[in-house]
Amino acid sequence: MSQGVSLEGSLSEGADSLDCRPLSPNIGAEVVGVDLSSSLDEATVSAIRHALLQWRVLFFRDQKMDRKQQIDFGQRFGGLSQGHPFEVSDPAYPEIFTIDRRKSESRYGRFSADEESFHTDVTAAVNPPASCIMRAETVPACGGDTVWTNLIRAYEALPTELQELADKLRAVHRYPTDATNPHRYSIDVSGEHPSVVTEKQLASEHPVVSIHPGTRERALFVNPVFTSHIVGFGSRESRKILDLFFSQIATAEFTVRFRWEPGSVAFWDNRATAHFGCIGLNLVDTNRTMHRVCVLGDIPIGPDGMRSESLKGPMLAAPST
Ligand SMILES: [Fe+2]
Repeated sequence: MSQGVSLEGSLSEGADSLDCRPLSPNIGAEVVGVDLSSSLDEATVSAIRHALLQWRVLFFRDQKMDRKQQIDFGQRFGGLSQGHPFEVSDPAYPEIFTIDRRKSESRYGRFSADEESFHTDVTAAVNPPASCIMRAETVPACGGDTVWTNLIRAYEALPTELQELADKLRAVHRYPTDATNPHRYSIDVSGEHPSVVTEKQLASEHPVVSIHPGTRERALFVNPVFTSHIVGFGSRESRKILDLFFSQIATAEFTVRFRWEPGSVAFWDNRATAHFGCIGLNLVDTNRTMHRVCVLGDIPIGPDGMRSESLKGPMLAAPST
């Protein structure tokens, strides 16, 4: 049974009641005049749901939320997963994953990801989050922006012949990724606790094109950080086809770039987008603390009706009590 929130309905339903200011034609809008720490009425929550379907990522400035209020806001959109599949940032708030690169690197060793690699959160799990809500607590004076891309527009802009090819394909997503992936988000074994990750590997087979459960739109559901190969193809062919799709999702016109300030909140549809942090600075020595919650999602379904399958590791789930 689905644990994700239903977003079915007309895209315009309720959205008119929000003050949404688009930041680019294809993705991203800033919402003004909403205090996310307050008890929002159902009409406002519904309007946010529909604006999210329309704009894929919503931005809110100057929010004064604590951890509890962020969890409460996230739960208006569905059940929340444990903040991170491998760790709990704060046992009092297990739904929150606190992103602080300095702490991560002291635990796991330095990540070797290409910093300009797009990813969709936790696609190595069979049920990636439906949506994610990230709040900035501390940000550097410059650097550390995030870019989101619209995977539905990326699919729609492909030539018909490539859409038809993509519709038939399935791909493996894994974490940690294999060493041959040039965009890998792999673990330096010199880190303090690399076994935390290597002992809890996640891998799933997803359709390359997923049907958005809220709108029935098709999304090009691959990303260079977690997608390792296309099922049934040799490694050379797989890499060339994936590189073509990866360059498609990185096309500038499908993207929006957001400059974080303390109190900024980004709420993204994780079925329709990928994102990456434009670090731009050595953040090991820079304060940048963000808090994320994830709304549990469905198991993706391809155009042929076939669902994703888990290859390794558990499904994302609510924190164990
Ligand atoms: Fe992410």
